[in-house]
This record gives sequence, C-alpha cells and structure tokens, in this order.
Amino acid sequence: MLKTVTKVCEARKIINEWKKEGFTVGFVPTMGYLHEGHMSLVKKAREQNDKVVVSIFVNPMQFSPNEDLDKYPRDLEADTKLCEENGVDLIIHPQPAEMYPDGFCSFVDMTGPTKELCGKSRPIHFRGVCTVVNKLFNIAQPDRAYFGQKDAQQLSIIKRMVKDLNMPIEIIGCPIIREKDGLAKSSRNKYLNEEERRAALILSKTILMGKQLVENGERNAKVLCDAMRKNIETEPLAKIDYAEAVDFDTIEKIDTLKGTVLVAIAVYIGSTRLIDNFIVTV
Ligand code: PAF
Repeated sequence: MLKTVTKVCEARKIINEWKKEGFTVGFVPTMGYLHEGHMSLVKKAREQNDKVVVSIFVNPMQFSPNEDLDKYPRDLEADTKLCEENGVDLIIHPQPAEMYPDGFCSFVDMTGPTKELCGKSRPIHFRGVCTVVNKLFNIAQPDRAYFGQKDAQQLSIIKRMVKDLNMPIEIIGCPIIREKDGLAKSSRNKYLNEEERRAALILSKTILMGKQLVENGERNAKVLCDAMRKNIETEPLAKIDYAEAVDFDTIEKIDTLKGTVLVAIAVYIGSTRLIDNFIVTV
C-alpha cells in the first residue's frame, strides 16, 4: 500500500522498519509533475529492490531568483496515482520549511563539473541539487538511486558526489524517454505553446544529427558542435545556450572524442530552456 509522508521523521520511521526486516530500498528523487521518464526510473527501481521510495520536492535551492520556481508545474494527485499504479511504496513530500528549517546553513558545494554546461547559465543550480540530494539520501537511506540521462550533467555530478563523499549508494542512470516525435520528456515541456512545441523538435533532431556524425566517424569536437549549432540556428524560435562535447566523468571540455563522451545541448525555445544530449563511448 502506497503511503505519503511529509515529515522527515515519518519517512525515517518507515524506512528504519524496512531496514530492520532486511529489505533493500530503491530511491527516485523527483520534483514531481511525474511523466513516463520518471516512471521508467520507478520501474527499474521496482525490478532491483524490495521497496521503492519516490521523493516529490520542488527544491527552491536549485532555482535562481530569475528562474521558474513559482510556476514550476505541480500535481500531487496525478503524481500519487502514477506512483500507485507503478508499485511505489512510499512518497516523501516535504514542504520547504521541513527541508530547510530556520538556521539551515550547510551545503554540498562541488567545484569542477558543476561549473560547465548548465552551470554557466545556472551558477547556483548544482549546489542546490547536491545539497538536496545529499539530504534526501540521508532521509531515504537507499541502496540504489535512479537518475535519468536526460539530466546527464546532474547524473555525472551525483556519481562524483557519491564517490567523493563515500556514500554507500549505487547510482543508476536510465535512458532518456522521448515523445513519439522525439522530444525528450520533461516537466518543462508543459510551458510550450503549440508553435514552440513544434520548434522544440530542433533539439532531438540536432541530437540525432550529432549522433550520426559521430557514427560516421567524426572525432573533432569543434566540427561536431559547430555543425550542431548551425542546425539549431535553422529554427527561428530557438536560441542556443550551449552545444558542447565533454568528458562524461569530469564534464571537462574535449578537443577530440575519446572515452565516454557527453554531447549536450541547451536551447531556449521562447522563454523555455530545454536540454537534450547523447552519450557515446569512442
Ligand atoms: O532532477 C530533478 O528532478 C532534481 O534536480 C532532483 C534530482 C530531484 C533534485 O531536486
């Protein structure tokens, strides 16, 4: 039976009981407004663990003042239904004051990988992500935690955090889930009007094109990214934030494609910022 709790102590109590019974816990941290992408993480967690915990928390710390915290879509009722249908055991749905009570002043602040790609236009974002994910890990005490490859830089950073800070948690990355026409599923797709929704296809088309260039032997990162940028520029409603190739583990820019490479783009469609990527081992 699915349970929803809003207090950290309630979550702890339930999870401690499970741990005593020897159950393994799979954890899917989310900001809610759940879609098939999130459910693919839940399904994987369901396969690999005795119990599945989902957190639903729109984390104020990872939004800059000029970003979409207030208008970020929320629908707890629909989320609960989806979780129920997909065999989730526990939803943790805290209020901001429960996560950040008065006097809160501890942060997980990573250097290197958080400064590139999305870190450039969202300078405080990953400090907020690392801090909240660390807190959520301490609350849910999972054996395994599941993150979508859609947020590939986030996935890389969480893997790094867990390694650097010796957290006994296995981080599992899951493939990008797409709409039928290719657009990567995202809660932010809701912001797009009809014209923008059509224009947003430039992201997945550019990713496909980039992938093909690499499959055909392109190894020069500049040539690859220039071609991808040029392709994005063909869409009048699109404004490029970045199109870059980096080492997946370090998020450092590369000149030549070698090892595990993340090719990532961020594009504004109107005022909505969307991201997409592919990871390739060369
Ligand atoms: O990917 C997200 O939805 C968020 O960044 C996360 C990991 C739930 C932290 O707030």
